[in-house]
Amino acid sequence: MRIPARCRGRKDHMTRKLFVTTALPYANANFHIGHIMEYTQADIWVRFQRMLGQQVHFVCADDAHGAPIMIAAEKVGKTPQQFVADIASGRKAYLDGFHIAFDNWHSTDGVENHQLSQDVYRALRRNELIEIKSVEQFFDPEKQMFLPDRFIKGECPKCGAKDQYGDSCEACGAVYTPTELKQPFSVLTGATPVLKSSEHYFFRLSDTRCITFLEEWTQTPGRLQPEVFNKIKEWFAKDEDGKGGLGDWDISRDAPYFGIEIPDAPGKYFYVWLDAPIGYLASLKNYFDKGAAAANGEPRSFEEFLADDSVEQIHFIGKDITYFHTLFWPAMLHFSGRKTPNHVFVHGFVTVNNGEKMSKSRGNGLDPLKYLGLGLNAEWLRYYLAAKLNGKVEDIEFNADDFTARVNSDLVGKYINIAARAAGFLSKRFDGRLSGDLGVEGRQLLDAMRAQAPLIVELYEEREFGKALRETMALADRVNAYVDQHKPWELAKQEGAEAVLHDVCSVCIEAFRLLTIYLKPVLPALAGKVESFLRIAPLQFADASRALGAHQIGAYEHLMQRVDAKLLDQLFEPPAVEKISPGGEDLAAEIKIDDFTKVDLRIAKIVAAEAVEGSDKLLRLTLDAGEGRLRNVFSGIKTAYAPADLVGKLTLLVANLAPRKMKFGISEGMVLAASHADEKANPGIYLLEPFPGAQPGMRVR
Ligand code: MSP
Ligand code: ZN
Repeated sequence: MRIPARCRGRKDHMTRKLFVTTALPYANANFHIGHIMEYTQADIWVRFQRMLGQQVHFVCADDAHGAPIMIAAEKVGKTPQQFVADIASGRKAYLDGFHIAFDNWHSTDGVENHQLSQDVYRALRRNELIEIKSVEQFFDPEKQMFLPDRFIKGECPKCGAKDQYGDSCEACGAVYTPTELKQPFSVLTGATPVLKSSEHYFFRLSDTRCITFLEEWTQTPGRLQPEVFNKIKEWFAKDEDGKGGLGDWDISRDAPYFGIEIPDAPGKYFYVWLDAPIGYLASLKNYFDKGAAAANGEPRSFEEFLADDSVEQIHFIGKDITYFHTLFWPAMLHFSGRKTPNHVFVHGFVTVNNGEKMSKSRGNGLDPLKYLGLGLNAEWLRYYLAAKLNGKVEDIEFNADDFTARVNSDLVGKYINIAARAAGFLSKRFDGRLSGDLGVEGRQLLDAMRAQAPLIVELYEEREFGKALRETMALADRVNAYVDQHKPWELAKQEGAEAVLHDVCSVCIEAFRLLTIYLKPVLPALAGKVESFLRIAPLQFADASRALGAHQIGAYEHLMQRVDAKLLDQLFEPPAVEKISPGGEDLAAEIKIDDFTKVDLRIAKIVAAEAVEGSDKLLRLTLDAGEGRLRNVFSGIKTAYAPADLVGKLTLLVANLAPRKMKFGISEGMVLAASHADEKANPGIYLLEPFPGAQPGMRVR
């Protein structure tokens, strides 16, 4: 097979040495379909390279640091280390389940990353690219910490919408700094934040050395996708007043922070986005130091490996983190004397069943573990995602009907069926032995299929997986046409057609083997089954130019089922909540209006919410009912709401209820929520929320 020039090593005889990563996922949540999509894309590319004989080191890690993770850990009463370790322990089920074969999985909190990040920083400092500036930021006086933008809320300075985050308004789309918010409050405590200044460390990206370097780096032909380069040009551009362009980058955060300490700067930590990409190197180093790389045919050390100019460093990432990877990251590497990425491959976002973005809180979309748990085949999803993926930065959509159709008609209907149709005759009539001859027509068909190998290789190389699969399925169509034309089921009944039957079935098996080569990067487990059925060594791309000859194959066993649409329906069913029968509870005895007015109901704003240690039912709410003081109320809604989702919301408070002493403190009232009489059979608690416009303290009557 002729391998296209761009897929060969620098010199024709050399294998390529590839260091490949995917983005490091935040260690505060399990994977969603977006992660699985990114890993699948990279995994297919890596498996493809290995099938060409290239040497690949494919690594990832948990992105452990940052304020959100620190705060999330505190909320559930864990140390951040324990918190991220718990998330990390859940990773394997996803990766194994979807056949994503990283060589190493590590953490940005590992010792390697601490050391490497500090090394990078020291080098930048030596190059006079670090500057200290005083910055004024919001500080939570109760919590005694500087607040990240997402932990400050208030009224939008542009449109006045309430309850908006510190960086942008969801109502009018305005972007601003937290200090511009009106009536700001801390999401953590409800306290009014105060402005406080502190020294911050900046990476001087506006330095002409950085700009010159980055202009050249980003322009290098073939390094970045054209649409990515165009976006970067916008980021470089200054307006008429000379404003805009690359600004210096604030790389420090003040304690308390879960991160890596900045050398010679007590109480200062690297901002998570400084040490996160260095985590790529840390995971690779960890892999080399364990000696695992040597076992994989790479005898040298991490340092030697990266000093090798012929090593290609490649990052697969989503479009939302382009800025970090195409500006900050190469500059950090270059000015600390390191190799820079050869490619940053950016992909779009996957959406599920009509365009809804993945949302962690809403939990819509496709839960990967539920998918596996229902017994849906991981390779269906790999195939489907691959069929939709290309080398551009385009969003793709998971659509349940489309998924079922593609898997059933293409994968099973066109490809698997070829083997199913031929194998039975071969084992029953010919002891599983292929005919050596195959016939003129059969040989022509197979030659035509082999002739497509360079094109398919090129398409995989360019991450045009959808096109590679379409080409492959077009070949499967030709094989099926050949089968329909020769009708082995009729040949089997004809006197004296033995030799033709033998040839036709053998052509099918040989064709099936070729198709399996072309599909193997996408369907590794299935290819493994095919290899044992055909009794052949693990398939490589070079095997496309070979022929099996009079080889004896094993007995055919069913290789892949069709998608059962019912299972797919189950996948998208919301978590089992039985139908709530209206009421479910008898009406209480009649009351007079005077009885009702005895109950003083008030609108109250939830300014803070947190779990109560030692209780699996209760949340502690801090409420503002417009009284100039805050109330402490315990509410049995923990199973229904995450504290963070409640903060800033309005609800109804029984304001004149006698205070009640509880094990955890005094409860000064009660918030109103709906639930079914039989909470066991019909779980679900629904907090009441007034229509927009209600103000804390208003009476409900
Ligand atoms: N921790 C950072 C990355 C640090 S890399 C040094 C981060 N983590 S993330 O968990 O939010 O996202 C991880 C990757 O998943 C990113 O490449 C992101 O673009 C990708 N995706 C997140 N949602 C996605 C979709 N809905 N679809 C496809 N990929 C998406 O960002
Ligand atoms: Zn607004």
